[in-house]
Amino acid sequence: MIPLDRILIGSLLLLSMQAATAADGQKIFTQGGENPSAMACMSCHGPDGLGMAAAGFPRLAGLPAAYVSKQLKDFRDGSRKQPIMEPLAKALSDAEISAISATLAAMPVAPTPDTRRQQMATDPVESLALYGDWSRGIPGCVQCHGPGGVGVGEHFPPLAHQPASYLAGQLDAWRDGRRSNDPNQLMVGVAKALTDTEVKALAEYFATRASQEAAQ
Ligand code: HEC
Ligand code: HEC
Repeated sequence: MIPLDRILIGSLLLLSMQAATAADGQKIFTQGGENPSAMACMSCHGPDGLGMAAAGFPRLAGLPAAYVSKQLKDFRDGSRKQPIMEPLAKALSDAEISAISATLAAMPVAPTPDTRRQQMATDPVESLALYGDWSRGIPGCVQCHGPGGVGVGEHFPPLAHQPASYLAGQLDAWRDGRRSNDPNQLMVGVAKALTDTEVKALAEYFATRASQEAAQ
């Protein structure tokens, strides 16, 4: 009979071998996935994962793992349509998606200021961001996205430290149906209630103002 401790050691060895062959998030980030169509994330999202504002490529550093996994699967199934990310997400395996999501979630990002200390919002854009406009059914963005747009939990992504053109692009994508992946349609209603000017102004607000204050 094989002693119990041998069986335990054997299964531990098997487990560590599986870990060794598991997808490596850091490698996917810097070199890409097994399938060459899954290009290195850092080539567009920046060496530190903070995005490339000039190109409108979003930051991925510090985004919640569950949110990133969901977005990659949404690009695959077409509930989020975008020509660059769609083939890329399709080239990643489920194991690679889990690995890269965990790696990205652990990457550092500058702190976001708590805009609750600016309770006296006199600026109309800031007022919309903090309190919304209930006459049009728009809740304050920070009520779901957290103070300063820092992000909340695994499902409400941060808006701070994202390029303005990216944020505005996403609001437009909800308005014209390219992005229809929001749980309970939490965003589509909000996006459709905003005017073009408000979309631009809110994108600018979360991309620059909220982030700049953090740097001070
Ligand atoms: C060739 C450029 C390019 C490469 C390489 C690339 N991305 Fe992207 N990625 C983009 C663009 C552009 C967007 C914005 C899509 C949109 O507008 O909806 C994006 C968006 C995303 C988003 C959505 C972010 C959010 O806040 O919702 C995730 C997640 C993402 N990419 C993950 C990855 C991962 C993981 C890799 C590496 C395996 C990767 N990307 C490689 C260009 C790229
Ligand atoms: C009732 C909750 C709720 C409110 C209020 C809300 N959001 Fe969102 N928002 C979400 C959720 C949930 C998502 C992620 C959807 C998904 O899974 O793709 C999201 C995603 C976004 C994104 C995409 C972020 C990314 O990384 O791709 C933008 C931009 C955005 N919201 C802007 C706003 C703005 C601006 C406001 C205020 C006018 C606002 N949101 C109010 C729930 C909300």
